Amino acid sequence: MSSSLRQAFTTLPAQIRAVTATVRNPIEALPPSVFHERLVERHLGRQHIVYVCAPDLVREALVTHASSLDKGEGLRRAIGPGLGKGLLTAEGTDWKWQRQALAPVFRASGTDAFLPAMIGATNRCVSALENQGGIVAIDQVMMRLTGRIIIETMLSSPEAVDADAMAEGLGVFLKQTRWSLLGDLLGTPEWLPHPGKAKGLAAARALRDQALAQIRTRRGIDPSGAPDDLLNRLLIARDPETGRMMSDEEIIDNLLTFLTAGHETTALALAWTLDRLARHPEIMRAVQRELDTVLPDANLELDTEKLARLDLTRRVLRESMRLTPPAPIIIREVRAPFKLEGVLLEKGTRLVVPICALHRHRQLWEAPEIFDPSRFIPREGERPQDDRYAFMPFGAGPRICIGARFAETEALTVLALTLRRLDLTPELPAIPPGKLEITLRPSKPLLMSVRSRHSTMADS
Ligand code: HEM
Repeated sequence: MSSSLRQAFTTLPAQIRAVTATVRNPIEALPPSVFHERLVERHLGRQHIVYVCAPDLVREALVTHASSLDKGEGLRRAIGPGLGKGLLTAEGTDWKWQRQALAPVFRASGTDAFLPAMIGATNRCVSALENQGGIVAIDQVMMRLTGRIIIETMLSSPEAVDADAMAEGLGVFLKQTRWSLLGDLLGTPEWLPHPGKAKGLAAARALRDQALAQIRTRRGIDPSGAPDDLLNRLLIARDPETGRMMSDEEIIDNLLTFLTAGHETTALALAWTLDRLARHPEIMRAVQRELDTVLPDANLELDTEKLARLDLTRRVLRESMRLTPPAPIIIREVRAPFKLEGVLLEKGTRLVVPICALHRHRQLWEAPEIFDPSRFIPREGERPQDDRYAFMPFGAGPRICIGARFAETEALTVLALTLRRLDLTPELPAIPPGKLEITLRPSKPLLMSVRSRHSTMADS
């Protein structure tokens, strides 16, 4: 494998082109060499950016040098107004105690308890699609569904809030965050206005007020008699080392964090997967055969044992997250200098792990552009999909996604219950490119026609 590449945008037009590309779509602004080099350096103005594109270097950066990195001002500036200092944005000891206190909330046994809520919300959504049929934007359908699921698992009395309004408010807030990220990259002052800023901040304030109202109601109830939802788990979470518990403000930060981190990512994983399957009818049929075997009877409920048997469905999900990782880029800022592949990363250097490039790296994957779920069939020998730093849709190192198990359970549930009952056909001629808005969103609505499998079978 070739080693590292240096690229400097020395002229003003080159700088302007690089910045414009970043505003339009930061994914398109990635240097093309990240798909075949181990490490790529770029100088944009005074900013030194290092792209880490080899699994051993990713491990060295995110694990060995974890304590020399933090998430950077850009993230705090962009999502801090909504998510405060919750688990996603906190640093140092503030992060560590929250991670320790929240770990049990997302353990396998804890997560499995949310399965009935996931099944209920999905069945309602699929019934509506089955009745309505016709053409739908599957990304929007999945966004509403995962929004419902996260709100129903957070608050077991979801009627107390307007879930659709909350999901919409979150969308308004997130949409304008890329301007803040860009402002940070260019070093502009934080108070500077940008498109959608005032609306986004108002939406974040409204979401935080709603969360506070829920916490106040729950504080009046004995936790041992309260429902076992995410809110209750946050109210009783304790740092195992110190016994410290969360203040109202910290609970709001984390409720908003789970709402943000857990809703859109999973929706996108599902939407991209359903779109891929609709374009590969032979693989969709094979998934449906697997579902018919594991769930032969319409009245049979899904449970964790049946989910564990969905091998092909799980491989399809992984292969889709390889090609379109919902969280495609990890960004860190260097706090204490260190060397990587002989390159000195000084304080202030921006370290980028382009997950989307690692997942299609020409030195790692055979025919990386091809959708082939059989890559994930367990076989002898070390292969990229077995390397946790080559295939890493949930990140790596101490800050790896705490909700990975929750997300996999949810995504498999939705795929199983949807494809058991529906056939999908794409309406767009090709998969549209992804656009980075912290997550990897389709640049156009993913339109597809949905049809009940029962009517399809009856017709044939
Ligand atoms: C397919 C769905 C998901 C994907 C692809 C995903 C991806 C990721 C990635 C890549 C990170 C690491 C970010 C970094 O290192 O900068 C992360 C962190 C995180 N994720 Fe997820 N995530 C998903 C679902 C969820 C769910 C369902 C939840 C919660 C309900 C969640 C909560 C979090 C939190 C709180 C963090 C921060 C952890 C920390 O810093 O300690 N995620 N996620």
